[in-house]
Amino acid sequence: MPALLFLLTALLAAAPPFSHKTHAPLKLKCVQCHAGAEKQERATFPTVENCRVCHPSMETRDIPSQRLYKVPDFVVFGHNRHAAAKLECSTCHGEVYQQAELKVERPTHMKACMDCHKEHKASNTCTACHELGQ
Ligand code: HEC
Ligand code: HEC
Ligand code: HEC
Ligand code: HEC
Ligand code: HEC
Repeated sequence: MPALLFLLTALLAAAPPFSHKTHAPLKLKCVQCHAGAEKQERATFPTVENCRVCHPSMETRDIPSQRLYKVPDFVVFGHNRHAAAKLECSTCHGEVYQQAELKVERPTHMKACMDCHKEHKASNTCTACHELGQ
């Protein structure tokens, strides 16, 4: 097969990744796709069914295609607790609707957590973020 045709076929086969920036004009609320972000521990990801509301013929794909923010299992982190403290998503994740490609805005290592807790007078005892016996 001619190289150019091969390249074209390969490009069409690979689903373009989800871009927050492309969807910014729709002014969708974050919780429309990340249902747990305000009331649950996990923000969660949308399924392809959620995409098909607007893209009816979208093929099945892996969501997420990658992970940017992830704490180890022995760390307690809850989106609900932080939403209740009135922190904006952008405080930790940046302005995702302005980014062509998401990048880590605020690292998730222990010092980054503790620095902000200190600033906000939130608990920095070990057991706030680590369950006893783990
Ligand atoms: C139309 C659906 C949709 C909306 C609305 C949406 N997102 Fe997303 N978001 C996604 C998808 C899909 C991914 C996974 C991208 C991938 O496949 O890599 C994602 C990934 C993310 C991630 C990366 C998480 C990780 O650990 O990899 C963050 C942070 C995020 N979104 C924040 C937000 C915020 C904040 C808002 C509102 C300002 C928002 N999103 C609105 C669909 C959406
Ligand atoms: C509320 C409607 C809506 C939802 C929900 C939605 N999209 Fe879109 N999407 C759009 C619109 C509008 C455009 C821009 C017009 C176009 O090119 O179709 C678009 C464009 C795109 C594009 C092509 C442009 C680009 O970014 O490269 C992709 C890929 C895409 N969406 C993926 C997704 C995925 C994956 C989901 C689910 C996580 C999703 N969309 C959910 C409305 C939506
Ligand atoms: C105080 C910082 C902080 C705030 C505020 C915050 N997040 Fe997160 N977010 C994180 C951390 C840390 C993780 C990794 C959690 C894990 O691995 O358990 C994460 C993970 C995520 C993920 C990946 C999926 C998941 O459930 O782990 C998405 C999507 C996300 N956040 C969206 C949001 C949205 C939308 C908001 C606003 C409603 C928000 N976040 C507010 C720190 C924050
Ligand atoms: C942007 C600032 C900020 C960052 C970053 C942040 N937190 Fe928090 N965190 C807070 C605030 C504010 C509260 C609410 C304190 C309250 O309700 O009194 C809180 C509450 C919590 C609580 C509940 C504590 C309790 O005793 O009720 C846990 C657990 C927690 N955070 C874990 C983490 C972890 C783990 C990280 C890093 C991955 C992190 N936080 C990053 C500001 C932050
Ligand atoms: C505000 C939340 C928070 C508090 C308070 C906290 N930790 Fe952590 N801790 C974390 C996070 C997040 C990680 C994961 C680090 C990473 O992924 O790099 C971690 C990791 C660790 C690790 C694994 C090794 C390492 O450094 O990655 C140990 C051990 C640990 N913590 C002990 C403690 C002890 C002891 C205390 C009390 C003095 C404490 N932690 C208080 C959030 C916290």
